[in-house]
Amino acid sequence: MGASLLQSTAMLRFLFLVLNTLLVVPELASAGITRHYKFNIKLHSVTRLCHTKSIVSVNGQFPGPRIIAREGDRVVVTVVNNVQNNVTIHWHGIRQLQSGWADGPAYVTQCPIQTGQSYVYNFTITGQRGTLFWHAHISWLRSTVYGPIIILPKKNVPYPFAKPYKEVPIIFGEWWNADPEAVITQALQNGGGPNVSDAYTINGLPGPLYNCSAQDTFKLKVKPGKTYLLRLINAALNDELFFSIANHTLTVVDVDAIYVKPFKTDTILITPGQTTNLLLKAKPHFPNATFLMAARPYATGRGTFDNSTVAGLLHYEPPSKSSPSASSFKNLPVFKPTLPPLNDTSFAANFTRKLRSLANSEFPANVPKKVDKRFFFTVGLGTNPCPQNQTCQGPSNNTKFSASVNNVSFVLPTTAILQAHFFQQSKGVYTTDFPTTPTFPFNYTGTPPNNTMVSNGTKVVVLPFNTSVELVLQDTSILGIESHPLHLHGFNFFLVGQGFGNFDSKKDPPKFNLVDPVERNTVGVPSGGWVAIRFFADNPGVWFMHCHLEVHTSWGLKMAWIVTDGKLPNQKLPPPPSDLPQC
Ligand code: C2O
Repeated sequence: MGASLLQSTAMLRFLFLVLNTLLVVPELASAGITRHYKFNIKLHSVTRLCHTKSIVSVNGQFPGPRIIAREGDRVVVTVVNNVQNNVTIHWHGIRQLQSGWADGPAYVTQCPIQTGQSYVYNFTITGQRGTLFWHAHISWLRSTVYGPIIILPKKNVPYPFAKPYKEVPIIFGEWWNADPEAVITQALQNGGGPNVSDAYTINGLPGPLYNCSAQDTFKLKVKPGKTYLLRLINAALNDELFFSIANHTLTVVDVDAIYVKPFKTDTILITPGQTTNLLLKAKPHFPNATFLMAARPYATGRGTFDNSTVAGLLHYEPPSKSSPSASSFKNLPVFKPTLPPLNDTSFAANFTRKLRSLANSEFPANVPKKVDKRFFFTVGLGTNPCPQNQTCQGPSNNTKFSASVNNVSFVLPTTAILQAHFFQQSKGVYTTDFPTTPTFPFNYTGTPPNNTMVSNGTKVVVLPFNTSVELVLQDTSILGIESHPLHLHGFNFFLVGQGFGNFDSKKDPPKFNLVDPVERNTVGVPSGGWVAIRFFADNPGVWFMHCHLEVHTSWGLKMAWIVTDGKLPNQKLPPPPSDLPQC
């Protein structure tokens, strides 16, 4: 009797264990874990191009530390501000579903973290895998405060391509010998274009083509026959970049943390705010050569820009340590890649056209098929009057450079828009009358109008929860046509159409790709052209949209969307965390 009771208890236990394994464990595996990071914002001395200076950094690292997580993980970052500047951190491209308080743009979702204060950013990574990055989101501090976000697939979930031998982050930055904060302050004061950078960097290093920098070169050592996953990030402030590796072909497999249909290319284009994963297949045998990897700008504007080239080295591991070629790489020939001309707009358009979503059963492209609300926004430059008793260095003596969306140059408020929205205190902070189409239509890419003055204000668009949105972004010829990498916070969007000249609301929409358009968070509006994007407003909060050329953001090429709460509990923005910084 006793024995059989014991037996049945054991049996029950066994059954319970089996049930546990079957039901509970898979659920736990997909729920993800919590990863904790501490970011200490502090000054740090760095020497580049023979200039030593003190930069604002995270944990004394430049570039900053890597955030590594799996899809489904929660990331908790405690940011402590130990510098004199106000600071915020933005997790660029993270969807921030119901965690809008952790998004980071200063005066949009939060007041800055002041000296001696801290703030805990807490968010979960949902439905994304690939590479993103984090950066300061106030003034020009992101010139030195940035680092990679590496999102691996869930445990035991493979990549949709052969597992690479190694993964290597490659983060492009822009280096100023001067203090970038002083550069933008002065430019906004005198109304002229800011001084351009002195170098581009790969993982913080300018490389052999710059003065004084041969020792500061990024080197990638590969084994013959192996495949490497390069995780590229453009964290430069003001420049789109072409990138290529001499004598090697690259396979694009992911952009902005979404897989794409793989395609081969010798050169890629990456705008500030964009990220991409590339497969690099090393040659099958030791090639007896070294290869340069290089990046230089794609520039379309009229203003001056930094036209220098950053380079790193691709070395092959010699066949055996004892072979003579192992003694030194110095005597090997160095091959250099050929990059497109600096203003190669047709390369840009063709490259963008090759990007397609996987759009299969495992990774469907959830493109809005019907549209609830249509918007048409012009993006471009303009002018503001020069203050009296001052001469300005804008396009004329009595103007300052400005930039706008639908001719509204956005003015950041002195308190956070998200707080004002959440506590229903918008009065004096923002208005909800952002124009859905230009107030004064003109031939956007033809002869520009004589009056180039913008209006200034803090205007937003309100979107009811789950609205399906179509937005056409149209470049203008005011002060010259120019490519604008537009970045939308809080969402991925589908790039359903693009073209040159003026968007035609009759002829262009029938040509839209609603089947496998690329899904991303930053898109280059073609120089003298337009793009059409679609997204579902399924994330309550306040979402910034701006040109990721920092100079244009500073001039006002930015706006914000407010997405209201839905009816269900999981469609509402929770109240702010108790440590949310106050202005
Ligand atoms: Cu990467 Cu609002 O920015």
